[in-house]
Amino acid sequence: MSTADDTQIARLVVERKLCSTNEVELVLAEQKTLSKNGKPVALPELLIRHGYLTHTQINRLAKTLDEDSMYRPAQQIPGFQILSKLGQGAMAVVFKAKQLSLDRIVAIKVLPKRLSENPEFVERFYREGRAAARLNHQHIIQAFDVGEAGGYHYFVMEYIDGKTIYDLIADGKCVEEQEAIRIILQTADALWHAHEHGLIHRDVKPKNIMLTQDESVKLADMGLAREVGDYATANAEAGRAYGTPYYICPEQIRGEVNIDFRADIYALGATFYHMVTGRVPFDGTTPSAVMHKHLKEPLVPPDHINRSLSAGIGEIIEVMMAKEPDDRYPSMKIVMEDLDSVAKGMPPFQAREKYDHRLLESLATRGEVIKETTDEGLSVDVTGLVSTQWLVAISVLLALSVLCNLLLIFLP
Ligand SMILES: Nc1ncnc2c1ncn2[C@@H]1O[C@H](COP(=O)(O)OP(=O)(O)OP(=O)(O)O)[C@@H](O)[C@H]1O
Ligand SMILES: [Mg+2]
Repeated sequence: MSTADDTQIARLVVERKLCSTNEVELVLAEQKTLSKNGKPVALPELLIRHGYLTHTQINRLAKTLDEDSMYRPAQQIPGFQILSKLGQGAMAVVFKAKQLSLDRIVAIKVLPKRLSENPEFVERFYREGRAAARLNHQHIIQAFDVGEAGGYHYFVMEYIDGKTIYDLIADGKCVEEQEAIRIILQTADALWHAHEHGLIHRDVKPKNIMLTQDESVKLADMGLAREVGDYATANAEAGRAYGTPYYICPEQIRGEVNIDFRADIYALGATFYHMVTGRVPFDGTTPSAVMHKHLKEPLVPPDHINRSLSAGIGEIIEVMMAKEPDDRYPSMKIVMEDLDSVAKGMPPFQAREKYDHRLLESLATRGEVIKETTDEGLSVDVTGLVSTQWLVAISVLLALSVLCNLLLIFLP
């Protein structure tokens, strides 16, 4: 650690009341008299040696310094005055700032320098940033500008005084059904608008859905190029740069190149699932375990977890989160139609149609399989036979249940 870092550490240690100014000054004085292999002994080492700080505390301070180091590049962005830090994600730091020319408050997302070294990323960052700036929708955080200062790329956007959906559901909390429908409807509307303009979000999740003070949805990070998109890299990053992949669709995990709007339908479905059940759809101890479940494991229906949920919500989420894009809703507009129906106490007609279609397809496939097996010896088409067998079985069950009910009524 350099002497400059030592000065910062000394400042933080006093600010956080881990040592008094006197104690730090004494250690700094001692530091001047000591050297290790011709180099000065680092301040953290001396603070630990004197028992003022533990290794864990030093690591925490180093992390804070790392975050603080983003302030400097942010302060160099021409035309903006940085006011405070709003938050930090896996990839960037977001600041509240004043745009001097227009005297308005904005949010600026500053990306780490390492991303500038990837020309493909930089190219996409500008392309998507410009496309997003052309969008204008009441439920999308307005993108204003993209730029570069001192080797750091930044994204200027509308400032939202509010919270994220993640804040609502942290610690296993659920959102009440009608409220969840309202939020998902507004988000779907925002995404539908983006899709209509040829933009796919690719990172829909509770942390990217904000709520204003009057509870209106504002979708964040629209048009922000994602750093990583494939399974292998995401795995290698082990959740560091990528975040834990709780909402990612199977085709993104597989690293498919031509991801379409249906990736957003899946991710919005996964977000919806989390909101109404208080749980992520697939959990695991590593990002790779979670991603594997997205690919292979059947979804536990949300209404099996939260028994108070209406069946309609469960059906909508299941269609949104179908593993195959073709089995999902054909557009965000149709998702909205079903959400609207359920909000009005009606069934989700589109999901039912999709479900019936899939059921017929799977029965037909099963018929074919049986036909193939039978064909080895006998050339018989048993598709109809299979359906007839099912009908007979269901009729027998119904008759039995009627009989039981009659017995219950007439027996003393
Ligand atoms: N336009 C905005 N106005 C106000 N606050 C914002 C705005 N955009 C982001 N924030 C705040 O900054 C935080 C960090 O945002 P960022 O997009 O960097 O990460 P994230 O979405 O929370 O997480 P991840 O890095 O996992 O995607 C957000 O959680 C939010 O609290
Ligand atoms: Mg974000």
